[in-house]
Amino acid sequence: MTHQPADQRVTPDDLLGTVEAILAGEPDLIANAANVAALLFEALPRINWAGFYFLRDDQLVLGPFQGRVACTRIPLDKGVCGAAASRRETIVVADVHAFPGHIACDAASASEIVVPLIAGDRLIGVLDIDSPIRDRFTPQDRKLVEEVAALLVRALPA
Ligand code: SME
Repeated sequence: MTHQPADQRVTPDDLLGTVEAILAGEPDLIANAANVAALLFEALPRINWAGFYFLRDDQLVLGPFQGRVACTRIPLDKGVCGAAASRRETIVVADVHAFPGHIACDAASASEIVVPLIAGDRLIGVLDIDSPIRDRFTPQDRKLVEEVAALLVRALPA
């Protein structure tokens, strides 16, 4: 998509439709991830970071994001991101301070959701969202974020 009206904020209800429209016809992962990070950051209330880490030589390397400066490399055995990537499953952490090995990129973060990006049997990276509110992410949020991640993966060239 080349143009989008900028006069209306995206809400959780129209997030999926907007993501689909933005990704339509664009196979570039970086361009799509950048727009998805912006849409998530705009649509989800009470979050302080939304973005991507991509798998590069057995490490997660920072990709497009919205929020404060973040750590650039995460080993697969470190942090919530590393755990979600190596287990290949979504991890929702209600209280990051109680998660062993959590990496505090922003001291304000209190809860977090990390969804792995998997194309076929290939791990591409993770989608990470942080909140300054404890227990911010509901099962509905989890479903929504997983659907957004699936749309991003589906837009990749075969
Ligand atoms: N908290 C994450 C690190 C990434 S930042 O939150 C952006 C973790 O523990 O993996």
